[in-house]
Amino acid sequence: MPEMISFLLYLSFILLYAYGMQISSSNLLPYSSSNPFSDPADELSVQMCKKYTCKLPTQEFVSSTCGYYGGTEPTVYAQPCPNSSTYCKLNTTSLNYTCQPFIPTYYSFPGDKCSPDKECYEGYSQSCTDGICVGLKKGKPCTSSYQCDPNSSCRNIDGTLQCAPLLEIGQTGCYKEFDCVYNAGCNVTSTTDLSKNTCIPYGSIPPGTEISIETCSWSENLCSSHICVQKTAGDETAICSGNIESSSQMPASCILPAGTTLQCQSKLDNYTDTISLSNCLCGYNSGGNSYCELFPGDVPMQAYYRELKKWQESSAIKNCNTYWRYPIDNGENLLCIKNNYDKARYESLYYWYLYSSLYPQIYGAEDCVLKTFFPDYFQAGENGGDGKDSSARGIALVSLLLILNH
Ligand SMILES: *[C@@H]1O[C@H](CO)[C@@H](O)[C@H](O)[C@H]1NC(C)=O
Ligand SMILES: *[C@@H]1O[C@H](CO)[C@@H](O)[C@H](O)[C@H]1NC(C)=O
Ligand SMILES: *[C@@H]1O[C@H](CO)[C@@H](O)[C@H](O)[C@H]1NC(C)=O
Ligand SMILES: *[C@@H]1O[C@H](CO)[C@@H](O)[C@H](O)[C@H]1NC(C)=O
Ligand SMILES: *[C@@H]1O[C@H](CO)[C@@H](O)[C@H](O)[C@H]1NC(C)=O
Ligand SMILES: *[C@@H]1O[C@H](CO)[C@@H](O)[C@H](O)[C@H]1NC(C)=O
Repeated sequence: MPEMISFLLYLSFILLYAYGMQISSSNLLPYSSSNPFSDPADELSVQMCKKYTCKLPTQEFVSSTCGYYGGTEPTVYAQPCPNSSTYCKLNTTSLNYTCQPFIPTYYSFPGDKCSPDKECYEGYSQSCTDGICVGLKKGKPCTSSYQCDPNSSCRNIDGTLQCAPLLEIGQTGCYKEFDCVYNAGCNVTSTTDLSKNTCIPYGSIPPGTEISIETCSWSENLCSSHICVQKTAGDETAICSGNIESSSQMPASCILPAGTTLQCQSKLDNYTDTISLSNCLCGYNSGGNSYCELFPGDVPMQAYYRELKKWQESSAIKNCNTYWRYPIDNGENLLCIKNNYDKARYESLYYWYLYSSLYPQIYGAEDCVLKTFFPDYFQAGENGGDGKDSSARGIALVSLLLILNH
């Protein structure tokens, strides 16, 4: 149970690719997605997105203003904040956007860096020693895997929850994916008899294979397609999907007349006979266009998964908490990854992580707008690596990069 609570906490601040809603004849499940980057307060509706462009030379901004919202058509005229420790936010008391201090909610786990002004997150770490947060050692009682040192997880051993070494591929005894080594998840067959559960590598389950609903909900990444669906509501089994990609060519535009329900659809998957839905989000482009969130089979997502796999198979990951097998938006640009991973690889992972998750918002946006509202993404693109498509002008360049990578 405590693990489930921590799992929910984990869900609330990592970027979650949730394709919770699949249409299969009569099976409609509610959609849940949490995009930590979108700010609904700044959006109108997808039927009437704001337009974003650069500040005009004729406009005079006071120093704290980073955007002016006005004109005959709703348009935001943007200018990057001069101070990088501020961010551009709609000021609800005026029509202007103002640079406001950026105070990250900072979570540090055992293995993360710490300093006098960046303390270890209380309740997770025991101390800050030699600049690194120290967690619970193997054998110590715990309530969550966040508390355990790298290379270990919190799980039931002989009736007590304790930090224990991550299980190797082929070993039994896992309850959740984070109990397995960094490049593997748990094939859950029983929630009571853990000796029936084995750690298996990510991506090892082919499309069309039946898996337990627990396996599916803990880690869709065990499926080579990164997505599984419940066959019918109430079923105990799920099935790994085939490659799920957008039904229309990217960027999938999703402007529909007012009053229509917006549906961003994937192609029909033959293995599961389902169509998945994703969100339609307002873009930060000058046309006021809205676009669909990506599906796991879409090209930028595939690039992200490739970088993710490199991280999960690296030796550097062994210095990070078991939850760090995925990028965690902990307010510090994927801190543990940044501190331990090869710089170029970190930059590439970070770039594709942002690009694939921000895609509807950044597609076609002008550089000045990206610098104003997505400075981290803009910087990630500037930093090179594979991430040269800094302005997200189109998919042509992305495809080219993928071919070069082969
Ligand atoms: C909005 O910004 C413009 C340009 O800086 C300024 O002239 C105007 O007074 C601001 N409006 C408000 C309500 O702050
Ligand atoms: C919002 O704008 C008003 C008027 O320009 C200003 O007094 C106030 O400080 C701004 N609020 C923030 C949080 O920047
Ligand atoms: C940048 O903003 C932060 C937070 O508001 C402030 O503490 C700092 O002094 C500013 N730096 C500069 C160079 O203005
Ligand atoms: C985790 O394992 C790696 C590789 O075996 C090792 O270098 C590292 O010190 C370990 N970290 C901890 C906190 O045990
Ligand atoms: C998962 O476990 C079940 C039950 O032991 C087994 O039948 C199945 O083949 C396993 N799946 C994989 C992908 O190893
Ligand atoms: C999936 O089904 C469609 C429609 O029946 C068919 O055109 C397509 O070739 C099938 N794809 C695969 C991979 O079987």
